[in-house]
Amino acid sequence: MEILRIPSIMHETSKRLIQQGKSIGFIPTMGALHNGHLSLFKRARIENDIVAASIFVNPTQFGPNEDLNKYPRDLEGDMEKLKKEQVDILFLPDTKSIYPEAFRTSVIVNGLSEKLCGVFRLGHFSGVATVVNKLFNIVKPLRAYFGQKDFQQTVIIKRMIVDLNMNVEIIVCHTMRESDGIAMSSRNAYLSPPERRAAAIIYKTLNNAAESLKSSAKKPAEVKKLMTDLLLSEPLVSEVQYAGIYDPDSLDELDEMKKQNLIAIAIKIGNTRLIDNILVDIG
Ligand code: PAJ
Repeated sequence: MEILRIPSIMHETSKRLIQQGKSIGFIPTMGALHNGHLSLFKRARIENDIVAASIFVNPTQFGPNEDLNKYPRDLEGDMEKLKKEQVDILFLPDTKSIYPEAFRTSVIVNGLSEKLCGVFRLGHFSGVATVVNKLFNIVKPLRAYFGQKDFQQTVIIKRMIVDLNMNVEIIVCHTMRESDGIAMSSRNAYLSPPERRAAAIIYKTLNNAAESLKSSAKKPAEVKKLMTDLLLSEPLVSEVQYAGIYDPDSLDELDEMKKQNLIAIAIKIGNTRLIDNILVDIG
């Protein structure tokens, strides 16, 4: 595996590979890799000549009171995993090379960034859209792989790709889960054992909501109430930031079910913020 740290060298390497007719599949990450990330590498390995991944803990997507400084880091472990998944190139820039002092530009995907997580994480999705835009310009992938776990992120990136005429195919991969259903996440490492057990309430609530929508044909508002009640029945849930049924395209809360519905949750357990979602097709 080649490790490239300098954007211009990554860029030249990609240009050369593209000239040779190679397809590049790219997986941007913030490291602390788990099986959710690995599923993206595996899919990219099947579909591309070259697989490139990046590890960059992007400061601009963290709020002032968020976990930038304590975000889990395990570069050695990550490199082992990347090699095992036959990743060809690891792009590992430092913060100064991505955000030099004179840096002034940001990408804002209006209307989608302010919803759901955006209400609680001001500026987060501008940080994400900006860094993903930069990474795409540097790595020049044909395809890029993202997890459904961060559903809003995928909606925003797909919108940016269309709006800015970027030639990258976005592939959204299923959420990988632990045996009790909890979505794999680097942030699960923050949970104490009792908190970790309590977190199972999230997937349970998503499935309950799906059942209510499908079998008892309840209205989204009724299901939303059931979801909030169930989440708060777990004593270690300290806050329900949102829980409900949303339009998977606009991310607006639904009054009536559509053919495809997004059921999404963001809660806090102790100080740890956890999100998850599932898509439910009706009829
Ligand atoms: P990070 O949280 O490291 O996630 C990298 C990719 O892995 C994202 O596309 C995310 O949705 C996916 N992923 C995380 N958990 C997953 C799971 N359980 N199953 C499947 N895929 C999963 O998301 C980011 O980094 C950053 O915002 C980034 C896009 C790199 C921009 O900085």
